This record gives sequence, structure tokens and C-alpha cells, in this order.
Amino acid sequence: MGWIVVISGGPGGADYITESARRKASECDVLIGNKDQLNTIETHDTKHVHEESGIESILDLLEKHRGEKTGIMVTGDAGIYSLAQKIIDRFGKDSIIEVIPGISSIQVAFARIKESWLNVRVFSFHGRALEGFEEILEHERVAILCDREHNSKVILGKLMDYGLFDGSREIYVCQELTLPEERVIRIGSPEDVAKIEVNGKEIVVILSL
Ligand SMILES: C[S@@+](CC[C@H](N)C(=O)[O-])C[C@H]1O[C@@H](n2cnc3c(N)ncnc32)[C@H](O)[C@@H]1O
Repeated sequence: MGWIVVISGGPGGADYITESARRKASECDVLIGNKDQLNTIETHDTKHVHEESGIESILDLLEKHRGEKTGIMVTGDAGIYSLAQKIIDRFGKDSIIEVIPGISSIQVAFARIKESWLNVRVFSFHGRALEGFEEILEHERVAILCDREHNSKVILGKLMDYGLFDGSREIYVCQELTLPEERVIRIGSPEDVAKIEVNGKEIVVILSL
């Protein structure tokens, strides 16, 4: 019998979380999320609210509240590079009452640069080793999820060793999408890479022309 509701919280901006996600989150007995996510939800009927973003702590909380209707808020959409998969790996699909879809940061990145995200190959170095770089530029349309350590500057710096500026490509760094600090930076040279000011959450988009 399931007890978990996986709620996609969107990329961060309060107006990029769906009404359905807000409503389903406020109907849970227990709600887990980060501070910004929880700030967007009406929680006065919620029995327990946990501000938590560490993966192991979240999985422990889900175990602790087994049997109570427990909402877990995840970033962007639950269907891509998401904590949702770790929950399924640990507790199985039957533990989940429902997955509420949401707006992915990848969708927003492609909307910002006015491009389709059809046939885009998505890579993630968010908490993952920096490897497999030889494959990335073989794809015509690429989105790369970064993290603070494996940030856009580091990733584009490494891709330069694989010929990033040899072909004809459009390159963008999309930072803090949907938030007040949002920036979309067009990269055309190694000097542009050197000038990137790394700022929070980022996606790199590379399109072959
Ligand atoms: C663990 S992945 C989760 C992706 C999520 N499932 C989605 O659909 O957006 C986290 C990464 O997504 C990207 N990301 C999430 N929110 C973002 C935002 N507001 N602006 C830019 N990138 C974002 C960053 O690369 C971040 O490190």
C-alpha cells in the first residue's frame, strides 16, 4: 500500500509550480521539501513539515512516515534526473500513490533560447563524476545539468579539449532559471568561458548548426 506522493516543484520560481502540485502538496499529512519549495505551499493543515534536502535524510524520513500520506517535493519534473528514481529504487513503485508532473528546468532552458527540445540528449554531472566527455559533442543537441563543483565553466573548459569551438555550434549557459537572478549567457569563445560567473543552478545547452 503506497504512502508517498512525489510532487514536481518546478525549477524554483513560485509561478512555475503547477496548481495541481500546490493542491496535492497541501493535502498531504507530511510534507518534505527545501525551504523555497515549502514556502510556495499552504501547510496549515499539514501534521509534519520537514525542511530537508539531503537525499539519505529524505529517504529516512519517508521510511519513518510509512503509513502516513507523505508528499516529497522534487525539483523540476520528477521524470528526469530526479530524486523520484532513488525513491523508487529504495521503496519500489508500489510505495508511490501518485507522481505529479511539473515543469522541468530543461524545458525552461529551451523556451528561453526559443528552441525545440526534440531530440535533445541530456547529460548530468550533478553529483556525478566528470567522465564520458568524448561522447557529448557527438550529439547535435545537448543539455548538460551542472552542480556547484561541476559547473558550466569546468564543463565547458573540459569540452574545449574535445573541440568545442572547432565546429559550428550555439552554446548557452542558463543560470537560475525562473528566479530573479536568471541569466542566459551566449558563449562564443574561450574568453567567454573564462568570463562566466558561476551562479547557483545552471544548465549548459550546445546545439550543432
Ligand atoms: C538533480 S537535477 C534535477 C533536474 C530536474 N528533475 C528538472 O526537471 O529540472 C538538478 C539540476 O537541474 C538543473 N536545474 C534545476 N533547476 C534549475 C534552475 N532553476 N536553473 C537552472 N538549472 C536548474 C541544474 O543543473 C541542477 O543542478
